[in-house]
Amino acid sequence: MSRHPDMQPNAVKRITTHQMLAMKKRGEKIAMLTAYDFSMAKIIDEAGIDIILVGDSASNVMAGNETTLPITLDQMIYHATSVVRAIKRAFVLVDIPFGSYQGNSSEALRSAVRIMKESGAHGVKVEGGQEIKESVVRIISAGVPVMGHLGLTPQSIYKFGTYSVRAKEKDEADKLLEDALLLEECGCFGIVLEKVPAALATKVSEALSIPTIGIGAGGGTDGQVLVMHDMLGITQDFNPRFLRRYADLKNVIDQAVKHYVQDVKQKEFPNSTESY
Ligand code: KIV
Repeated sequence: MSRHPDMQPNAVKRITTHQMLAMKKRGEKIAMLTAYDFSMAKIIDEAGIDIILVGDSASNVMAGNETTLPITLDQMIYHATSVVRAIKRAFVLVDIPFGSYQGNSSEALRSAVRIMKESGAHGVKVEGGQEIKESVVRIISAGVPVMGHLGLTPQSIYKFGTYSVRAKEKDEADKLLEDALLLEECGCFGIVLEKVPAALATKVSEALSIPTIGIGAGGGTDGQVLVMHDMLGITQDFNPRFLRRYADLKNVIDQAVKHYVQDVKQKEFPNSTESY
């Protein structure tokens, strides 16, 4: 008898790379959000998210760093393991952090294998095109699903100098399309397009048979991704045009904590029904 969870009666059907391809074919958009811990991952999995990205944005929103560069492979594996424990349906995708795959395809494979083996995640994401081709091919040849990431690639922020929109000029737009086609040819199952003109993202999405997931790339991509802390309004100092806030959790938390502090100070918490 198989012990794979999907083979159990009444099992929730997990999202796979094949299903993502099928979603693109039938025009169903793919919804992706970041998560970095068990409790939030459980909530968003139960709410029906298709892909949970354990993004290296954990470096910003969880650790308070200015960029994604400092987060380590061990830290990414810690976050990914916590997320995987929580999910029943979503595909869990993990960023390979800066410095763990760029220069050397053997190290890239080692990093990807560590993520898959130690966290139980379902795939990895890497930033870049032609320049990381060898690493992408090597990881995929080991059977690990890889998602690419083009446009604004935060691990290269010191090369770009700013977080402004990428590929507005023809040369960079042409290179992005070439890189997208190359990543598809290498076997990537999807590509994140970050902060590029909507018309370019649409053109790339139409040129590929694998799904594109946009962030600040307009409505023509095959799916969308946002950083969960941004869309829930936990972070408030980040206000790019592409960000839609679906909640104002910073204020909800602020009010709740102030209320609690007041209750404790005024000896109104706990009351008799809250005591043994
Ligand atoms: O790390 C991250 O959160 C990401 C998304 C912005 C796509 O890579």
